Amino acid sequence: MEDILEHSSLPTHLAFIMDGNGRWAQKRGLPRIAGHQRGVRAAKIVLQSAMKYRIKYITLYAFSTENFNRPQSEVTFLMNLFRRSIKKYFKFFTKNDVKFRAIGDTSKLPDDLQQAILKLQQKTADASSLVVNVALNYGARDEIVHAVQQLLDSKKDHVSWQDIRDNLYTASTPDPDMIVRTSGEYRLSNFLLLQAAYSELYFLKTYWPDVTEQTFIDIIQEFQKRDRRMGRI
Ligand code: FPP
Repeated sequence: MEDILEHSSLPTHLAFIMDGNGRWAQKRGLPRIAGHQRGVRAAKIVLQSAMKYRIKYITLYAFSTENFNRPQSEVTFLMNLFRRSIKKYFKFFTKNDVKFRAIGDTSKLPDDLQQAILKLQQKTADASSLVVNVALNYGARDEIVHAVQQLLDSKKDHVSWQDIRDNLYTASTPDPDMIVRTSGEYRLSNFLLLQAAYSELYFLKTYWPDVTEQTFIDIIQEFQKRDRRMGRI
């Protein structure tokens, strides 16, 4: 562990809005899809850094419910990229004791992608060194509707915050300590809205494909500078 990081105040859960792939590619005169390809590499660097610096939970916003409105060719490319990435990094997860979970309405994804997700989830169900949530067809409003529907189906006559929490896609994950968005946009874009209640927010100018291990260290150092009062004085 690097000395520059304070052991006692490491975040437990970091969540990432991986933005700027398209602009990264455009800047280089490349097609947008080249940016997404490099984005997968940046995601892997983030997971390797999380293992190295002992962060227990990482959540990655890979595809929002709204992303289905992109041109069909880009949606198809992204679905193929997710499928190929699961195959390519299957061993990375199983060998390193990394648990994979998809969060979101995965029932709308292509059948073979759903199968690949299920297989990786089953294979890594007992892994515990690092938990990785990948948001795929995820939207916080959709998640809330889904949770309310489940609670209605359970015929409860009283609902607590704990009941709502237990029915979110992130049920077994602690709330993110910090949500990071790359590419200089200052929005949450329907990401983890309820879970973000007390999260630190950090917006970086860096485009997602340019994220490195040093970026990861900078993020943890920024987190360690924040004074988290959670409503107390
Ligand atoms: C946002 O950049 C990025 C996406 C919609 C796709 C995110 C997917 C990856 C980074 C691949 C990682 C995959 C896994 C499985 C972890 P953008 O296209 O909105 O960029 P722009 O705002 O510059 O156009």
